[in-house]
Amino acid sequence: MKSSANQNLKPLTTRINDNGNLEISGCDLVELAEKFSTPLYVLDENTLRTICRDYKEAFSSYPNTRLLFASKSLCTMATSRILAQEGFGFDIVSDGEMYTVHKAGVDMKTVLFNGSNKGIDELNLALELGVGRISADNFLELSLLNELAGKAGKTVDILLRITPGIECHTHEYIQTGHLDSKFGFDLTQIDNAIELVIDEYKNLNIKGLHAHIGSQIFETKVYKDEVDILVSELVRINKKFGLNLNELNLGGGLGVKYTNVDYPPSTYEIAEIIIDALNENIQKYGIEPPVIYLEPGRSIVCTSGVTLYTLGSSKQVPHGTKYIAVDGGMADNPRPAMYQAEYFAQVANKPDAEPVQNVTIAGRFCESGDILIKNIKLPYTEEGDILCVYNTGAYNYSMASNYNRVAKPAMVLVNNGTADIIIERETLDDIIRNDKIPQRLGE
Ligand code: LLP
Repeated sequence: MKSSANQNLKPLTTRINDNGNLEISGCDLVELAEKFSTPLYVLDENTLRTICRDYKEAFSSYPNTRLLFASKSLCTMATSRILAQEGFGFDIVSDGEMYTVHKAGVDMKTVLFNGSNKGIDELNLALELGVGRISADNFLELSLLNELAGKAGKTVDILLRITPGIECHTHEYIQTGHLDSKFGFDLTQIDNAIELVIDEYKNLNIKGLHAHIGSQIFETKVYKDEVDILVSELVRINKKFGLNLNELNLGGGLGVKYTNVDYPPSTYEIAEIIIDALNENIQKYGIEPPVIYLEPGRSIVCTSGVTLYTLGSSKQVPHGTKYIAVDGGMADNPRPAMYQAEYFAQVANKPDAEPVQNVTIAGRFCESGDILIKNIKLPYTEEGDILCVYNTGAYNYSMASNYNRVAKPAMVLVNNGTADIIIERETLDDIIRNDKIPQRLGE
């Protein structure tokens, strides 16, 4: 089976250059750190475009596939532009993501608006910008959306978000398809939702069903289970209500290789499981092939991204841990603190040096839980060395905060020796931009 970039520990263009430094797509990481300062998010355009093409090729034998990119994993105007150029639509979950893709010039008909508690302003913006599909999550949203669409004189194409009752083996916080979940209608509520739309909500037009079973998934069978459940529901609903729904959104979830012990399947393996399951179900029920949406996020952008940090102070606890501090941490990458996520890293200015010490990489934020990597083997390091942490393209920048009032890092896009800023580093003035001192507190 063909491999794909999400199975790589590093961006595809990573190598050691003639200076003895790590480089990505022809850009020396030590020079990038000098030029743009650290912490710095670096994104490899080549790896990003390659994985997009892998997805397209993998699903090319199923004609009715629509690939969406889950913007929550990384939402910038430049990356949205690249993904649109690669033929992807977008799964967005907020007005901020909607506005970003809109401003990047994305065709809003290719956008699907997801989310479990969308606001009135957000739904109105979606109607105004002509978002292609809205995935309706609950009864309140159905009634609200019907009302807003009526006021706008529009009919809205919707999918119904359902929880198919599938448990996958991933971190509890990123499971979404199991029965006790805050997302979507459970299987006992769907018929009621459909009746309401048919009888009362005349401004809504149901096109199909939507589910998402979790994230950082390594199992393939859960996707077959998902297809089986969704197709059988679609067939049952069509029969019971005399409808002709033919769209299924299977969500995202394919995992990536954060460390050497992670073995995620390739996009080709996932595609084969899904397409085989679809074909089986199409035969079994004698139906027209439904339109399939996939909305991966992490597996598209994670491997393309690395974060560069400068090493600072270090501390050897007597007979205990050796801590080495970096100039970033839980504000630019909250994942270790939130999900016990593990990362792999190398020293960019000495990638060849023998790893001789076990160290713990500590973040700079005032919290003992701010540990980026527990226990990694590194060569002898010095203050000022540049650490490259791999696989930070997904859910790092998108979950970044200004904790401790630290400015968010810049992001550069590298491509064959060129590095362009796609997110400017925040300044101290950005930090106080929204602050106001009430007059009564004095000059
Ligand atoms: N579709 C829906 C409806 C989702 O909720 C998600 C992710 C995706 C697609 C994309 O899933 P992906 O292909 O990226 O696994 N912050 C967590 C991940 C949360 C995922 C939430 N939903 C993390 O850093 O691991």
